[in-house]
Formats: sequence, C-alpha cells, structure tokens
Amino acid sequence: EKGGYDHFMIKEIHEQPEAIKNTLMELTDIEKIVNKMGNVKRICFVACGTSYHASLIGKYLFESLGGIPTDVILASEFKYSAGSLDKDTLVILISQSGETADTLKALRTAKNTSKTLAIVNVLGSTATREADYIIYTRAGPEIGVAATKTYISQLTCIYMLAGLLCKHGDLVDKLHEIPQIIQNMLDNEDYIKAIAQKYRDAQDFFFIGRGFSYPTALEGALKLKEITYIHGEGYAAGELKHGPLALIDDEVPVVAVTPPGESHDKTVSNVEEVRARGAHVIAVGAESDENLQSEAEDVIGVDDSIDEIMSPIPYVVPLQLLSYYMSVARGIDPDKPKNLAKCVTVE
Ligand code: F6R
Repeated sequence: EKGGYDHFMIKEIHEQPEAIKNTLMELTDIEKIVNKMGNVKRICFVACGTSYHASLIGKYLFESLGGIPTDVILASEFKYSAGSLDKDTLVILISQSGETADTLKALRTAKNTSKTLAIVNVLGSTATREADYIIYTRAGPEIGVAATKTYISQLTCIYMLAGLLCKHGDLVDKLHEIPQIIQNMLDNEDYIKAIAQKYRDAQDFFFIGRGFSYPTALEGALKLKEITYIHGEGYAAGELKHGPLALIDDEVPVVAVTPPGESHDKTVSNVEEVRARGAHVIAVGAESDENLQSEAEDVIGVDDSIDEIMSPIPYVVPLQLLSYYMSVARGIDPDKPKNLAKCVTVE
C-alpha cells in the first residue's frame, strides 16, 4: 500500500505533482462559488498547524493582489480574538481533516455573522456539512501524520481563489507549470538527502524568510519539529536581530528561503549576518542565483521561472524532504511521530 516507498510520508511527498493537477480540477467549482458569493470586502482565515501556514500565504496573496484586508487567526485563539466579523467578511476555514475541534468551533461561531467557506480534503467531513461554501482540495487520502500533499493542495486552492477574486488569471496559468517543476526537484532528491545526513545530529535549526517566504519558513520548522524531534524555529528574517540572533552559532544551522523578488536581497543580508556568527546556511533559491552560491554553504535550487509570489508551492518541497530524510537518518518513523495524531478532535 506504500507503493514501493519506505513510508507514507515520502510517498505523499512524491504524489504532490499529481495532487496539484487534481486540485486544479476544482477550478470550475471555485468559479461557481465566487460568482455566488458576490463582493468580498474582508477575509478572515481560521486554521491550525500546517493549515494555518497555508492561510498566512493567503493573506499575502489577497492583500498584495486584491487589496482585500485579510486576517489570519489560529482556530484555538478565535474565541479570544476574532477581529471584527460582519456580513461582508468571508471567513475561510482551512482543514485537511475537516474534523479539527477548534476549527469546527470557530466555524460555528463565524456562521452567526459571516459567510463561511471551508477548504477541506476529507469528503463528507463535519466542516463540509456545516460551512456555507465548500472547496475540496482533492489531494487524495493522506496517511502520514505530517501534512505534505494536502498543504500543497490547500495552497493550490488558495491561489485559484485569489486568481478569481482578485482577477489575476495569470495565477491559474502559472499553477499549471508547477507540477513539472516539483517533479524535477523530486527526481534530484539525493542531493537533499545528503544535506539531511550532514545535519542529522543538530539540536536547533532556524528557518528564515520574508514576505511570501515567511510562512514557508514556519512550515519548514514545523515539519522538522514533528518528525525529527529537533527544535526548529521559523522566523521572519527581519526579526532575527530583535532577539534570536543571540542564539546563532556554528551549532545552529539556518535554512534561508530566498526566491527571486522583492525580499531577496534583504534575506541575503540576513544570511550574511548569521554566517558572521558561524552558522551553516542552507539556502533554497533560484538555480542560477550566483549570489546565493557564494553566500550559503549548501544551495537547493528551484526552477528560475518561479518568482516570489508562486514560490510557496514549490519551495516547501525541499523543506519537506529535508525533514523526512533527517527523520529517517535519526531512526524515527516519520509516519508516526510521538505524541501526535492525524486528527485533533479535542479543543
Ligand atoms: C502538521 C499537521 C498539523 C495539522 C493541524 C490541522 O503536519 O498535520 O499541524 O495541520 O492539526 O489539521 P487540519 O488541517 O486537519 O485541521
């Protein structure tokens, strides 16, 4: 049932190009929803964990492409601070399982004031029965506890939704190119496996990025914590000097997410900062980014055509692989991390 792979997680990482193609088939349903919904003046995302990171990317997208004010709230915090929901606000709940207790509770509250849209992977789950509108991510069943292909599919849905709501048709066109780009990275995963071997005994990691790459850094750190039990911290690169720089030395590898675009040069200066303190830097950036080659110890290259806006989808893949291969190198079963369940049905 693992289709020749050692674990479900690596199988599901490899299913990502296919998952995106399947998610893209949801486009016509998303179009119908957008037409029915009418004007959206404000968006409020609510989610947990990896689905929360997908939501954060949604905020950068809706604000930068459509100028739609967007909040992102952790479902477990929603009851303490839900912002100012009203009938013109679209509340978007993101949940792979559609059963996460905190997210369901927020959905029930949000329904009193606002239109609700649930982006869910599991057909017929509770969220799909209770939200006003439903988008299915169509990633197929995910068995590994760590979310991988469902995250990629959530992002694909958010990009389609943003493309339609913000009238940026080019976004949808660009999504069609991503499966092949991810496939090329998967075909060269031995390079990432070697980096994972090198750092398997590290005790702390930092993941840094700016703008669209900040949620990617958070997701990289979450994957690391979950399946390797190594402490990983995701940080907005510009925040490093406001405290955590004190923790950086040659024992703390730093993963820098540096796609080409507005944030690139600033993140590269943060790379210089941490290197000056002895850190080993693994950069994920464009293949022909010469600047990175000279600044970082290891560079994981992504196709040059990927700009900052599209980067969250392909750029997370090397981070998933890095954690997976570190988990395996440390003798851990990445499919069954200790203390974690696939679906969190208690608040
Ligand atoms: C991380 C992970 C969790 C889930 C979170 C929300 O790899 O899987 O952080 O993302 O528990 O779950 P859903 O999306 O089912 O609401």
